[in-house]
Amino acid sequence: METRTTRISPADVTRQREFCEKIAERNAALAAESLAFVDTYGCQQNEADSERIRGYLRAMGYGFTDDENAADVIVINTCAIREHAEDRVFGNIGALVHAKRRHPGQIICLCGCMAQEPWVAEKIKQSYRHVDLVFGPHALWRFPELFYRVYTRRGRVFENADEPGSIAEGVPLVRQNGVKAWVSIMYGCNNFCTYCIVPYVRGRERSRLPEDVLSECRELAEAGYKEITLLGQNVNSYGKDLGLSMDFADLLRAVNDIPGEFLIRFMTSHPKDASQKLFETMAQCEKVAPVFHLPFQSGNDRVLKAMNRHYDRAVYLDKVRRLREQIPDVVITSDVIVGFPGETTAEFEDTLSLVEEVGFDALFTFIFSPRKGTPAAEMDDPMPMAEKKANFQRLVDAQNAISAQKHAAYIGKTIRCLIDGVCQEEGFVLTARTPGNRLVRVEAGEEALIGTYRDVEITGANTWSLWGRLK
Ligand code: SAH
Ligand code: SF4
Ligand code: F3S
Repeated sequence: METRTTRISPADVTRQREFCEKIAERNAALAAESLAFVDTYGCQQNEADSERIRGYLRAMGYGFTDDENAADVIVINTCAIREHAEDRVFGNIGALVHAKRRHPGQIICLCGCMAQEPWVAEKIKQSYRHVDLVFGPHALWRFPELFYRVYTRRGRVFENADEPGSIAEGVPLVRQNGVKAWVSIMYGCNNFCTYCIVPYVRGRERSRLPEDVLSECRELAEAGYKEITLLGQNVNSYGKDLGLSMDFADLLRAVNDIPGEFLIRFMTSHPKDASQKLFETMAQCEKVAPVFHLPFQSGNDRVLKAMNRHYDRAVYLDKVRRLREQIPDVVITSDVIVGFPGETTAEFEDTLSLVEEVGFDALFTFIFSPRKGTPAAEMDDPMPMAEKKANFQRLVDAQNAISAQKHAAYIGKTIRCLIDGVCQEEGFVLTARTPGNRLVRVEAGEEALIGTYRDVEITGANTWSLWGRLK
C-alpha cells in the first residue's frame, strides 16, 4: 500500500509554539506555578506521544505533578487495544468529576487511540461533561491550538476527524527518563490484522525521514543517553512509503554508526517483514541489542489466515531458526492471542506447541477482545469464555515454566548490564537490564551508578526476573 505522507510545514509547527507562548504569558501572570498531570496508557508509542504533550505543556509554562487534585490541567493519553484498557480509562475519567468539583478551573483533556474512535468521542460528549478537550493522535501536533481554544473560551473542543495521518517535526519534547529514550521512526500501520484497532486509530504507515531520525539519535548519544529504542507498529516496513533505497536494516546500521556508548533496541516487528538482511545486520552491529520481539499471535495456520497475518507457522519457525543462526543467544519475546473467534481447542494446541517449540524468553498473552469496527468483532465466536480462560491458563503455565528455566540458566554468569533505576523491593537497591532486556534486581550499590553499564553477577532468578550483585 503506497501512500503519500503529509508533512506538516515548519511554519505550522512554529504557529503551535506561538500558541504555547501566549498561554505561557498568561500562566506567568498567575500567583502560583500552574501544574499539569499527564497520565499515559498503552504502548511505547503512547509513551513517546506523552513526551511531546509534556513538551508542549512545558512550553506553555506548566510544571508537572502526579496528583490529579493539584493539577490545573489533566491529560489522559488512552489506549484502545482491548476492552479492559478502555474500561479502566472510563472508570478513571468518571472519577475525575470529584477533582474538577474541587477545582472548577481545571482543564481535562482526553487524547490517544480511544479519542480517535467516533463512539468514544460521542460518549464523552454526552456522558462525561467535565471533559473539555478530546483529540485523536492525528491532531496531537495541534494540541496547543486546540488547548488555547479551551483555555480562552472555556468551550468544549472535539477534534478527531479520520485521516491517513501526517508527520510533524520540531514538536518540543520532555523525555521521561535521562538514560533511555524512545525515538519514533514511523507512525501508523497498514496491516489490518482482523482483530486490531490500531490501523483505524493511528492511520496509514508513514516514515520519518532518515536524516530526522539520525539527527535525533545523534543528539541523544551526545546527551549521554545509554539506550535508544526505535519505535513503530511495524518497524520492518520502515521507509517503504518514502520511496528511498534505505530500509530498516540500513537505518539500524546508520544509528549503530553514531559514536557513543549506547544500546539500540526496536519494536515492534511483523514476522512477514522480518528479513534475513535484518538478522544479519543485527549480528554485525555491536550496539544493536541481541533481542527480538516477534509477535506470532497464533500457531495455527487457519487462525493466522483468519487474522490476516500473511505468514504461516512454518514461515514463522523458519524466521526464528534463521535469527538464531545469526545470533545464537538472542532473546526472543512474542505476543499471542487466545480465543480468536472460531479458534477451537485443537487449534489452540498448535499455539501451545509453537510456544514449546520456540522457547520464548517471555510472552505477552492476551485473550481476544472484540474491537468495534474491526472484522473479527463481526465473526462467529462460539467458544465459551470459561474454555478460553482455561486455554489461556494452560499457555501461561507453559510459558512460565519456560521463562523460569531460561532465567535459571543466567545464574552464575556475569553480565554487563545497564543500571537503570532504584529498586522498590526490599533487599535490593537498584534495577538493571541485561542486553536482552531481562530485569535484574541488584543487592547493593550507589544511586550514582544509574545510567552506567556495570558487570553484574547473577545470583538468583525466577519466572519474571533475575537478581545479582555488582562485580
Ligand atoms: N504492532 C504490534 C502490536 C501492537 S498491539 C505488532 O503487530 O506486533 C500489541 C498486541 O496486542 C498485539 O501483538 C496482539 O497480540 C494484542 N492485541 C491486539 N489487538 C487485540 C485484540 N483485539 N484482542 C486481544 N489482543 C489484541
Ligand atoms: Fe495491529 Fe497487526 Fe498493525 Fe500490529 S501489525 S498494529 S497487530 S494491525
Ligand atoms: Fe494502544 Fe494505541 Fe498503542 S491502541 S497499544 S496505545 S497504538
